[in-house]
Amino acid sequence: MDFVDLAASADLQHRAARLLTSTFTALGTDAWPNLESARDEVTECVAPPNLCVGACDGEALLGWVGLRPMYERTWELHPLVVDPALQRRGTGRALVYEIERRAREAGLIGIALGADDEAYRTSLAQVDLDPHRLFEEIRAIRNLKEHPYEFYEKCGYRIVGVIPDANGPRQPDIWMWKRL
Ligand SMILES: CC(C)(COP(=O)(O)OP(=O)(O)OC[C@H]1O[C@@H](n2cnc3c(N)ncnc32)[C@H](O)[C@@H]1OP(=O)(O)O)[C@@H](O)C(=O)NCCC(=O)NCCS
Repeated sequence: MDFVDLAASADLQHRAARLLTSTFTALGTDAWPNLESARDEVTECVAPPNLCVGACDGEALLGWVGLRPMYERTWELHPLVVDPALQRRGTGRALVYEIERRAREAGLIGIALGADDEAYRTSLAQVDLDPHRLFEEIRAIRNLKEHPYEFYEKCGYRIVGVIPDANGPRQPDIWMWKRL
């Protein structure tokens, strides 16, 4: 597997956009409902100072990841996608570790990310979370339908908060963070 800077290739950017819209549409989210919205996202991801890395096997784009400013020295990982036909083979973790390596090189000390749960894939969705018990709910989180928070935990990220109605009533965003 090779890592490529997506900013350097218009062709890879086009393929990255196709992968983004097809993967997330199949997941039932309307984050990038068409190619045009996905192309706009990729264009933003490759614009300085953002970092954007693809994982390639020969000509094939296996997946890609973006990182953008959020706080002074802690940036936001967004988005991350691996070709559904090629998931669970280590590509996602390899992409996360590569963007972390580049982040460290750039002097960053942390990465944060939001993992939406719009499709009721964890125990934090489809319920009215009590604002006074959010941390208990987080501690007791269960993965009901392969929500990616567990993937990020395996990469060393920890849940640091939840925005209960981020995407609509009972459709939370789960916030995670890792110290580099
Ligand atoms: C989430 C995603 C990037 C993971 O990529 P991947 O290449 O399949 O992940 P890896 O093979 O590197 O997995 C690393 C570990 O996480 C686990 N894992 C991966 N996806 C998981 C999931 N959805 N739920 C639970 N565990 C998961 C793997 O089993 C592996 O565990 P192991 O070390 O015990 O063997 C990929 O599934 C994807 O693109 N999903 C759709 C888009 C998405 O949800 N992006 C994230 C939005 S916040």
